[in-house]
Amino acid sequence: MEKIQKLIEEKVGYLIVLTLMVISVAALVEIVPLMFLKQTTEPVAGVKPYTALQLAGRDIYIREGCYNCHSQMIRPFRAETERYGHYSVAGESVYDHPFQWGSKRTGPDLARVGGRYSDEWHRVHMMNPRDVVPESNMPSFPWLAKNLADAAIVPGKMEALRKVGVPYTDAEIAAAAAEVEGKSEMDALIAYLQGLGLALKNTR
Ligand code: HEC
Repeated sequence: MEKIQKLIEEKVGYLIVLTLMVISVAALVEIVPLMFLKQTTEPVAGVKPYTALQLAGRDIYIREGCYNCHSQMIRPFRAETERYGHYSVAGESVYDHPFQWGSKRTGPDLARVGGRYSDEWHRVHMMNPRDVVPESNMPSFPWLAKNLADAAIVPGKMEALRKVGVPYTDAEIAAAAAEVEGKSEMDALIAYLQGLGLALKNTR
C-alpha cells in the first residue's frame, strides 16, 4: 500500500490521471441521473416555448448584457421567495438555451418579473431608469426603441432550437418572421420580460 502511495505521489503523471478518474466518476454519478429525471427534463405545467417575438427579445437581452447585472434564479430561501415569489425550478428552464440563471445581482432577480409592471413602465425604465427609479444605476438603452428587431433570422433560430428539443411546429416557424416584422427591439425585449416566470407566479 505504501509503495503504491509513494508511486502515485512521486509521479505527477499518475497523480493527474487518477485524480481525473475520480472526478469523472463523481461527475457521472451526479450529473447523468439528472438527464433522465422527469423533474429536470420536462417543463412544469404552463411553461411554453418563447414566441417568435419573445425569442428575438431574449437575444437582445443577451446582446445588451442584461445578465451581467440580473440573475434569473430565485433561491429557495425565505428572503428570496418573500421578495420575488416561488423559487426557480429546473422544469421552468427546459426551453432556455442557454439558460440565464446567473448569480450576479447588481439589479434585482428577473426570473418572475413577467406581469410585475406594465409594458409602458418597462419602456420608460429602459429609455432612462432614473425616470421611474431615481436612485437607479442601471444604464439607459434608448437605441432599443429606434432599432427594428431582425425578423429574418428568427425562423432559423427556432429551427435550431427545435433540434435541441423545443417543440416548435412548422406553422409557428412559418409565421415567425411576420410576428417580428416591424417591431422595435424594445417591443421584443418587453415581450420577453413580460413572459418571464409566469408559470409559477402565484404559487408560493
Ligand atoms: C449595470 C447593471 C445593470 C444592467 C447592465 C442592467 N440593469 Fe436592469 N437594473 C439594474 C438595477 C440596479 C436595477 C434596480 C433599480 C431600477 O429599477 O432601475 C435594475 C432594475 C431592472 C428592472 C426592474 C426589476 C424589478 O423587479 O423592479 C428590470 C425589468 C430590468 N432592470 C431590466 C433590465 C434589462 C432588460 C437590461 C438589459 C437591457 C438591464 N436591466 C440591464 C441594473 C442593471
